[in-house]
Amino acid sequence: MERRDFVKLCAASCAATTLPTPAQAQALKARLYGKARLVDERGDPLRAAALKPGVNYVFEYPFAATPCFLIKLPKPAGSGADLRTEGGQAYRWEGGAGPEKSIVAYSAICAHKLTYPTRQVSFIGYRNAPSPVAGNGQVITCCSDRSVYDPYAGARVVAGPAPQPLATILLEHDAKTDELFAAGTFGGEMFDKFFEKFGFRLQLEMGDRARSAVRDRAVVRELAAYSSQWAQC
Ligand code: FES
Repeated sequence: MERRDFVKLCAASCAATTLPTPAQAQALKARLYGKARLVDERGDPLRAAALKPGVNYVFEYPFAATPCFLIKLPKPAGSGADLRTEGGQAYRWEGGAGPEKSIVAYSAICAHKLTYPTRQVSFIGYRNAPSPVAGNGQVITCCSDRSVYDPYAGARVVAGPAPQPLATILLEHDAKTDELFAAGTFGGEMFDKFFEKFGFRLQLEMGDRARSAVRDRAVVRELAAYSSQWAQC
């Protein structure tokens, strides 16, 4: 296992982020990838204040072909949650980032059968409004088999066949500049399975770039602009 793959999280990097505290670092390990500044479609730094509450944004991280959700929830998500991966590994999600602790990011690859948003269609996404599967709303639903994840609780599974939460994307918020950064992942990653399952398609669409690491910056778009259709459920 490479050193960069699993690292204990340091106190300094926890100060203004959703990263775990040093005490929790003894019990859990996060996977840190290259730190990427979140930018808008013009390439300007994305400020937390510019995010619209209840809107589903998407960016690719930690690989060029792996989409993630970025959501500024309508309410703070600061109470944290104790979670478990499908393999039984326990971890604690520490809550949202940003001034109101309402900004969360998760891998957009469904933990059931790896449904993910493509340019053509998205079956998975954050639903702010009520719907038959979303109930009262403010959840992430996957319309493929109706899994429902709670973005206020580390994307815990609240309904459907998904065997574990969506992987958390570790966010850092710079309180001085109000900028946001993606720094790594936490919880059950699905990236190896994802590239195994969709490698051929991704190769056709993106060539060898699909598994290249996202470095320095990640472009954030609204899901409505990322996928031309959004399946409802
Ligand atoms: S692939 Fe998402 S619920 Fe089955």
